[in-house]
Amino acid sequence: MTDTQKTAQLSLNGETYELPMFSPSAGPDVLDIRKLYAQAGVFTYDPGFTSTASCDSTITYIDGGKGELLHRGYPIDQLASKSHHLEVCYLLLYGELPTAAQLEDFETRVTRHTMVHEQMLNFFRGFRRDAHPMATLVGVVGAMSAFYHDSTDINDPWQREVAAVRLIAKLPTIAAMAYKYSIGQPFVYPRNDLDYAANFLHMCFSVPAEEYHVDPILARAMDRIFILHADHEQNASTSTVRLASSSGANPFACIAAGIACLWGPAHGGANQACLEMLKEIGTVDRIPEFIARAKDKNDPFRLMGFGHRVYKNTDPRAKVLKQSADEVLELLGVENNPLLQVAKELEQTALNDEYFIEKKLFPNVDFYSGIILEAMGFPTSMFTPIFALSRTVGWISQWKEMIADPQNKIGRPRQLYLGETARDYVDIENR
Ligand code: ACO
Repeated sequence: MTDTQKTAQLSLNGETYELPMFSPSAGPDVLDIRKLYAQAGVFTYDPGFTSTASCDSTITYIDGGKGELLHRGYPIDQLASKSHHLEVCYLLLYGELPTAAQLEDFETRVTRHTMVHEQMLNFFRGFRRDAHPMATLVGVVGAMSAFYHDSTDINDPWQREVAAVRLIAKLPTIAAMAYKYSIGQPFVYPRNDLDYAANFLHMCFSVPAEEYHVDPILARAMDRIFILHADHEQNASTSTVRLASSSGANPFACIAAGIACLWGPAHGGANQACLEMLKEIGTVDRIPEFIARAKDKNDPFRLMGFGHRVYKNTDPRAKVLKQSADEVLELLGVENNPLLQVAKELEQTALNDEYFIEKKLFPNVDFYSGIILEAMGFPTSMFTPIFALSRTVGWISQWKEMIADPQNKIGRPRQLYLGETARDYVDIENR
């Protein structure tokens, strides 16, 4: 963060206030309003944080206009085509691409932490079988602070490191367990001879009764989904993790808070909502009806998997996933699946529709990830848990950055109060 020497002036009630400005390495200048209330006695108002930077960060940069996403400066399409998820995890956590030795050491550390405490199996069994895997995930990740309380002291850098590795390593295991539990199959232990994505597929789809071979094309597509969801600067769930941790809460509790936030259909729940919408549409001939509903101001229906708060040109993650979707559908020979036909036709119709063009609404990452995951055989309820396990590294990297920041203080937004002013209590018989 560089002080630009530039200032902005605010005129208020006959007084002029100088607001310092910061120049980021990329993106718009930032007005520093931290002293505004003390100096001028006013708050600023920005409920959806559309114009407010809540922190400074060096991890991820998005240019919504250009459709650009950079992790530590590296474009997402390069990472998705040349790297793999654990290398991206290293990059996000430590700031630089690892050397071969650093990567080997990191992969070994993560791999050695993939198993969960055996007692956790009993904890799982306390959930109803028909629980949504996200509900199980929020509960089990929150409970990690009970199982791994030797890595909850946020003031100890070593414990922070152990917690980070534990979370990245165990989330796939926990997500796969949530899935197996929901379908009544036995839990499958992690296999350390498989890579991160192949191990996850193995834990989800293998059964003790027979051999399961992980197709490398599917493992690669899975790994790409992990990379493309790894971080996305100060989105709702990441901001939730930061706000929760600003009070000094332990990392497992904070990540559980992030998972809870991610679950909503306007955020990570959109991939499930998108597939459910495609199923509801059902056949290509019903697309115009749904497009008309999406445009109707009096209908709350929105086209799930379209639009983004930040990207107003194209979602660069969607571009990469579209290609992955084509590969996976071809491999699995399901190009003619009716649901996927609806998806393709809907994409084309929306991309050529004036309403969507004018409002800059493009398919987002959730549109294509849902299609790939459906083709791979995941039920829609697993889409958001897969997003959560991919985003864990982003949450943890942002959490680590925040704790190490000397400016870190408890997050405590102000409000524009519109309620009653002070009034006297009225006894119940007089109301
Ligand atoms: N379908 C139809 N119209 C839409 C859609 C949509 N998917 N998205 C936005 N619009 C319209 C809005 O009605 C609004 O119209 P108006 O200007 O006439 O009032 C305009 O486009 C702008 O929309 P906002 O809601 O103001 O945009 P915002 O940035 O707040 O919302 C969001 C972004 C939440 C992603 C929204 O586009 C949406 O609900 N999309 C569907 C859900 C979805 O796919 N979410 C996934 C996001 S990506 C992720 O989390 C990984």
